[in-house]
Amino acid sequence: MKGLLDAKNDDYVARAREVAEKYIRPVAAELDEKEEYPWSVMAKLQEYGLTGVWIPKEYGGKGDGVLNLCLVVEELSRACGGVGVVFAVNALGSFPIIVGGTEEQKHKFLPDVASGKKLIAYALSEKDAGSDAGSLKCRAVKEGDSYVLTGDKKWTTNAGAASLYTAFATTDPARGTRGICAFIVEKGTPGFTIGWKEKKMGIRCAPVHETHFKDCRIPSSQLLGGQEGRGFKHAMMTLDRARPGVAAQAVGLAQGALDLAVDWARNRKQFGEAIISFQGLQFMLADMATKVESARQLVHAAARAIDAGAENVTRLCAMSKVYATDVAMQVTTDAVQIFGGYGFLRDYPIEKYMRDAKITQIYEGTNQIQRLVIARSMIKGE
Ligand code: CAA
Repeated sequence: MKGLLDAKNDDYVARAREVAEKYIRPVAAELDEKEEYPWSVMAKLQEYGLTGVWIPKEYGGKGDGVLNLCLVVEELSRACGGVGVVFAVNALGSFPIIVGGTEEQKHKFLPDVASGKKLIAYALSEKDAGSDAGSLKCRAVKEGDSYVLTGDKKWTTNAGAASLYTAFATTDPARGTRGICAFIVEKGTPGFTIGWKEKKMGIRCAPVHETHFKDCRIPSSQLLGGQEGRGFKHAMMTLDRARPGVAAQAVGLAQGALDLAVDWARNRKQFGEAIISFQGLQFMLADMATKVESARQLVHAAARAIDAGAENVTRLCAMSKVYATDVAMQVTTDAVQIFGGYGFLRDYPIEKYMRDAKITQIYEGTNQIQRLVIARSMIKGE
């Protein structure tokens, strides 16, 4: 709700909306069709000062926190969910450095991400380690002043486009999650390759690849935080901070679909009247709008808690993710319904919202995992 946002928030919304309306909406269908990375949009985001919003000022960022990140992601996603995630993954990839990096690592790697000069991705998941992230198999073996990484990653969003990767590997599988370490990996490092590009239902302009490590030597100075065994905690702390961004993507998709549905219902005539004059449809729109606004407020609450440095943000962040993404799926599906047969056609923009929304219930922790996280925190009495 506008009243709860301050002048700085409004300014971010206005700039992101301008980029979305001028440079994203006109090309969204083409980016989807051709599965092309939105390089021209990323250049505009730099030009409009929208990169590095969440990165602290001392490391070259705007220092404007997760709420402003979410506001930007919502606006971009309102025009294209794929662009929303392409942008947001830079937060996901850089949060490990923000929460767990040494001062040296922060100063070395964050400024280029903040300026938008370098994109950064997050390589946690593997073929057999999705929800059970702690069971990852990628190995890191210490050899002199380096770690040698071997193994395969899956679901690396922005792979290929990104110059930097926060990658997770275990130095000691016997220690379970306590054996996991995070490494900052630069594109072009010998032994690190970008593999198969996934063919997806939605967010088609966002490249998702398999990534591979084969005897890939990473200097010890790029072990996150300079300490072994901290990687899983850093991965979880990162997901806590990044999940409101996915939730904001979902709110943007839902709001974008709702806007189109209202417009369609005003103009589409059946039985001699605009279909918006029918109460059955008005009630649908009212429910959709109520859900979108509640999801948005929950996202803002989670983002504000992170920005305030609250200790236990895990539950609220998981709640924002599960609620907003379930809402996005419901609202985009209802929007397609309101378009009727036209909603099913790829000539109209609405079906893309439904396709893009689906993944928000799955990635950055499925909604079943979010419910598990919420329940565990209740059981612990947090
Ligand atoms: N913050 C800090 N520490 C945390 C934490 C948190 N939120 N959650 C767990 N930990 C710590 C625990 O305290 C525990 O620490 P100790 O070893 O000191 O006791 C350790 O981590 C292990 O915790 P659990 O026993 O709870 O771990 P688990 O194996 O049961 O897994 C899980 C927990 C919540 C299911 C976790 O595996 C999870 O979040 N899974 C989903 C993974 C996920 O979200 N993947 C998304 C990948 S990114 C992606 O999708 C991006 C994209 O493409 C755009």
